[in-house]
Amino acid sequence: MFKCPRCGYETEPSPINFTCPRCGSLMEAVLAELPRDVRFRYRRRLGVWSYVQLLPGPRVRVTLNEGGTPLIKVGKGLYGKFEGLNPTGSFKDRGMAVGVSLARSMGVRSVVVASTGNTAASASAYGARAGLRPIVLLPNGKVARGKLIQSIVHGASIMGVEGYFDDALTEALEMFKSGKAYSLNSINVWRLEGQKSIAYEIYEEVKVPDNVIVPVGNAGNIYAIWKGFWELMQAGLIDKLPRMIGVQAEGAAPLYETWRRGVDSLIEVNAPRTIASAIRIGKPVNWLKAIKAVKTTHGLIVTVSDGDIMRARDRLARRGVFVEPASASTYAAYLKLLREGVVDSDELTILVLTGHGLKDPDSVKG
Ligand code: F0G
Repeated sequence: MFKCPRCGYETEPSPINFTCPRCGSLMEAVLAELPRDVRFRYRRRLGVWSYVQLLPGPRVRVTLNEGGTPLIKVGKGLYGKFEGLNPTGSFKDRGMAVGVSLARSMGVRSVVVASTGNTAASASAYGARAGLRPIVLLPNGKVARGKLIQSIVHGASIMGVEGYFDDALTEALEMFKSGKAYSLNSINVWRLEGQKSIAYEIYEEVKVPDNVIVPVGNAGNIYAIWKGFWELMQAGLIDKLPRMIGVQAEGAAPLYETWRRGVDSLIEVNAPRTIASAIRIGKPVNWLKAIKAVKTTHGLIVTVSDGDIMRARDRLARRGVFVEPASASTYAAYLKLLREGVVDSDELTILVLTGHGLKDPDSVKG
């Protein structure tokens, strides 16, 4: 029933009139009788630390309740794993929770990352949480505004680097090698160990999908997800692997070229270009691991244009799911592969929607 908080007037609830007919105040909804045997079914959230048995340490646990993200239906046979709902708005939090925990247990004081934005945001938040000093190296003028603001607000030391992500990474790794700070880039395998929990969560919801489509930048995540499934197979829990499909933007596609030509050294891109700034990377350090994930699952790497990425971003948003351009590349790739008959809507396909749309407001035409 509806009850007026001011004059006490009671009436049947109405879906179109929320004001008290007697005094004009906004009505309260009052349950007539509360059931005596009410049972609450709050389930502890899934998350990275639910899989601690499958993680290689560390003793300390730094957490902001990362992971446990939803699978959202996008179309027939198509679901998005919305990693944008992690604490800092991207999947990076899964790896950062484990990486920062390790750093904390080692007793280091400073941590360093190069980043296109999300790794920096995550390292800044988790570093702050653990009482460490985060140092982030960002390519000048190439990081989305929301991500930059996150690093600022969490109190990171921010250094701008001329050039691309790849140049920033070279500098960050030099700081690591010289002992100035501990590296939390994805050369650090603990980061990837945290990220493999994406596969475990998908398994808990749908077992083994036919296809998993992942945006590829530095190429760690596609490998991490593959590794999660591969371990489930080693443990005898599943008997096949999903086809791993990597996506790159046309102007930043070193992994695609390397895979397509079947060569055994990386074909670098010196001046990567794409509106999807998160994956504007020319020399992915994890390229070999990513190729392994694709080859062993009979998967593929596909490229999409910036126009396709933005159309896919808008289409997802019109279905209520707002992701950043890099993440939308997975939907663009799916639509392309569907047209080409490489994937089918009778199959089960998961898009890994890696980051939230609010991170990159400037990519939206107002
Ligand atoms: N999607 C988003 C939103 C990302 O931020 C990244 C990587 C990727 C996909 C690609 O993942 O590098 O494991 O292949 N961002 C890194 C960063 C490079 O610095 O935030 P990857």
